[in-house]
This record gives sequence, C-alpha cells and structure tokens, in this order.
Amino acid sequence: MSENPKINELREKRAIGRQGGGAARIETQHKKSRLTARERIDLLLDKGSFRENDAFVTHNESNFGLSDKKFIGDSVVTGWGTIENRLVYVFSQDFTVLGGSLGAAHAKKIVKIMDMAMKNGAPVIGLNDSGGARIQEGVVSLGGYADIFLKNTMASGVVPQISAIMGPCAGGAVYSPALTDFIFMVKNSSYMFVTGPDVVKTVTHEEVSFEDLGGASVHAEKSGVCHVSADSEADTLFLIRKLLSYLPQNNMEDPPYKLTKDNPLRREAELDTIIPEDPSKPYDIKEVIRMIVDEGGFFEVHENYAANIVVGFARLGGHSIGIIANQPAILAGVLDIDASEKAARFVRFCDAFNIPILTLEDVPGFLPGTTQEHGGIIRSGAKLLFAYCEATVPKLTVITRKAYGGAYDVMSSKHIRGDVNFAWPNAEIAVMGPEGAVSIIFRKELAEAKDPVAKKAELVNEYRGKFANPYVAAAQGFIDDVIEPSDTRSRLINALEMLANKRDINPAKKHGNIPL
Ligand code: HXC
Repeated sequence: MSENPKINELREKRAIGRQGGGAARIETQHKKSRLTARERIDLLLDKGSFRENDAFVTHNESNFGLSDKKFIGDSVVTGWGTIENRLVYVFSQDFTVLGGSLGAAHAKKIVKIMDMAMKNGAPVIGLNDSGGARIQEGVVSLGGYADIFLKNTMASGVVPQISAIMGPCAGGAVYSPALTDFIFMVKNSSYMFVTGPDVVKTVTHEEVSFEDLGGASVHAEKSGVCHVSADSEADTLFLIRKLLSYLPQNNMEDPPYKLTKDNPLRREAELDTIIPEDPSKPYDIKEVIRMIVDEGGFFEVHENYAANIVVGFARLGGHSIGIIANQPAILAGVLDIDASEKAARFVRFCDAFNIPILTLEDVPGFLPGTTQEHGGIIRSGAKLLFAYCEATVPKLTVITRKAYGGAYDVMSSKHIRGDVNFAWPNAEIAVMGPEGAVSIIFRKELAEAKDPVAKKAELVNEYRGKFANPYVAAAQGFIDDVIEPSDTRSRLINALEMLANKRDINPAKKHGNIPL
C-alpha cells in the first residue's frame, strides 16, 4: 500500500484490469488448455519487456445490458515489448472478457498499436482468440473490423505482420489474419472459418466438426491458409520468435546479420553424389538445403502444404535468405497450382522485406491435366512468374538437375533478372524431357521405324547427350557457372556478399497487376 491514495487507486484499477473477465473465466480458459491473453504475451516477449498501452480503455455501449458488463481494458491487451531485444508491437485478444468479442473500443486499441508500429517501423503480432464481432454493438463492430482490415492492408509490405490463432476466429474476423504475412495455428485448439458448422449444415447439408472444417491441420495441409502449425501455444509463440529472427523490422531495413561459427568455405562432399544416376529417381531437397546453410538451420513455412515445393528461411554466412526449392521427393517436384501460389507469395514477402532469394531448381515442368488447367494453372503459374520478375532483391539460383520448359524460365532464370545462376554438372536444361521431346520431333520417324522401341531409345539417347547437360545454357551465358555441388555453400556465400549493395528498380507505377 502506498501512502498516496491516488496511487492505491491506480494500482487497484490496474489489478482489476489484469484480471480480465475474472477468476472463473480464467479457470474456464485454462480448462480448455488455453492460456490467457496476458500469459501468452509473457511467453512471446522477452521477460519483463512488455509495456501495456490503453490499459484503462472501456467500451461505451449500453445495448443489451452491456453497461453492466464493462471491463477495464476491454477484451484485448495491447502494447509493445521486445523479442531478442528488438521492438515488436502486440495485441492479444482476451477471451475471458465477453468472449474476446470485438467492439469499437477493442478495434481502436488494435488500430492504435498498428499506427505506432508503422510509424516506428516494427513488426505487429496479433494473438487471436475471439468470438468475433461483438453482437451487442452491431454495425459499430463491423466498422471496427473494417478499420483493422484497412490498417492491415496499409501496413502490408511496410512492417512484418504475424498472426497466431489460439482459439476461435470466425466469420469476417478471419480476414484480418488473412491480410497479414504469416498465420500460425495451434493444433486441436484453434479454428478459422468464414461460416461455422451450423451454417454449413443448413446451406449444404454437410455435417462437419469445427476441427475438420477449420482446424490447424486442415489449414496447414489443405487450404494453405495456415503457414505454421504447432502442437501447443508455447510452441507456437516460440516459433513466432524464431521466425522474427530472420526478418528485418521494416521494409527500410536489411534483415539482421547473425554471426555464425559455420565455415563459409565448408565443402560438403556428400552433395557430389546426392543426385541419383537415374534422372527419374527422387532425392530430398531438404537434405541439400541443410547441408548448404549455416548450421543446417531451416525455418520452413507451409511445410505440409504443396510439399512439392519447399519454402522457408535460413542463413548463409550469417545473412538471412529466403529459399524456394522444388522438391523432387514429392510429385517429382512438379509445379502445380498450389505450389505456384505458395512460392509466389513467399517470393513477394522476401522481396518486400529485402531478404535475398535462393532458388534451388529441379523441376520437370508444370503438372498436366484437366484439374490443373480448369483450376487455372495458367493464372497461378503466372503469379509465380510475376513475383520472380518483379523481385529486385539479390536472386541466386542453383539448378541441381531438371530445368524443363516454362518452369526453367519461371524459377528465377537469368532472363527474369536472376543475378547469379549456377548449375550442377548433372543439370538438364531443355524445352522438355527426352522422352516427350523425341515423341514429338521424331513422330514420323518413329511411326515408320521397323523397331520403334529401339529407335526411340536411340533418339532419346541422342537428345539426352545434346540437351541433358548445363553446357548449352552455359554457352549462351544463361548459366553463369557450372559448379561442383560440394562447393555450393561457398559459391553462394561469395555471390551473396558480392551482391550486398545490389540496387535494381522497377518502372514507376501505382502498382502492377499480378494475375490474382
Ligand atoms: C458478444 C460474445 C460473442 C460475441 C462470445 N461471446 N461471442 N459476446 N459477441 N460475438 C460471449 C458469450 O456471451 C459468453 O459471455 C462469453 O463470450 C464466452 O462465450 P461462450 O459461448 O460461453 O464460450 P464457448 O462455449 O467457448 O464458445 C465460444 C464460441 C461462441 C464458439 C466463440 O461464443 C460463439 O459461437 N460465439 C458467437 C460467434 C459468432 O457468431 N460471432 C459473430 C461472427 S460474425 P459470458 O458473459 O457468458 O461469459 C463476425 C462478423 C465479423 O464476427 C465481420 C467482419 C467483417
């Protein structure tokens, strides 16, 4: 107790605010194996660094008994703190207060934090746990959401925005996280959907559970809405901290440099034999990534979605990079709709935040078929092409094996401003694979041949000899160098450092028209 009664009043108010919706509701939250808004902030930020803002805000509504339900601070906790000593802004919805529902006061608190984040150039992290629009506030709460959507859009490409879904996130409320850069979800404890199971049942007669409709696994594997899913809230918050370690604070900064003990000249002899002799045999590109990057560290994004392409963050010689890699171990690394969109979005994020891009290429082409064509692979492939074309960050490419057809052009080729393009000696760079090519250009000869099988084998061999190598492209200057796989790490670090002061610009325009 202080001798100053005013100070005691302050302390009392603060203590009440910290209780959110009260002990009983906190207990209910814990019974659901969920943490409270404040407990989450404590886990997310450096110990003791949180400074709360707007702790005394309350709503101003009286409809449907709301005047009797005023809580100090309302249903969201906002403020700033640090993660590894770097400033971040945070809002954490408090489910214990009116189900974390969003009314005017709640929305204003979030908008204020976002304005500060943009002005001061630091990431915003939103921890979502809410029953959605506060029903009693009607259209005012819809307006509050729209205010946040506008801020999310304005902040996009200015400061990194990260969302974690730690409970319900339903209806139009999903669109705030959806506008941010990365969505994290907690497995078996969070869900996102535009319309819930009851409405689904009424409209489509489908019976579906919350989890099967919009749980973490569904969004991490099927819809791609979720970028990272984790087993627990603590894991989720830890992974957000980890992700931030690769990112700059804002679009005017370079990503942080992290001193590494990993030798930049380290050779990896295993890489010289990692490509199977038979070009149709798979290998795991993630093994290649781990052998190349600093200390094998790779923060994968969208791990379980469109796994035929791998994207994520790593470091090379201490420098943050974004990696986009075809995965020959899944669907032969083919580019389909989902893979194209996944990679396009990642490329654009890296470009927006000055993170150099490393592309590891082993791609047999785009996936054929009516499902893909009718689903708009033309549009999706164009997104990836557009993203690579407009990116002005340093772009490094290594063709490890196949680079066929349009996919050769798309995957950060020299022609679309690849800065340094390497190929391994096993690379096959051609319009298409030998089998397909021979069937087309020698159709007549094959039809007339006495032994078409033997003839085809002979022609395939000839084609392979001519085109299934990197030297035709290297002779044109489309490949800057053919390198020994074991030297990949040192060559990439050298190239990255050579490009440290790269400046490249696009023509002045309002914005491009990416084929959405
Ligand atoms: C006001 C709400 C609320 C809401 C929950 N509560 N949602 N209050 N507006 N949207 C209150 C409850 O009355 C209750 O208050 C407390 O929060 C906890 O809710 P429970 O239902 O007891 O919790 P639980 O059983 O865990 O269920 C959680 C839930 C459910 C599934 C989220 O509350 C629910 O269905 N809520 C409504 C969801 C919804 O339809 N929202 C509108 C979506 S449309 P007490 O006082 O008893 O503790 C939308 C449009 C946004 O959001 C548009 C943006 C463009």
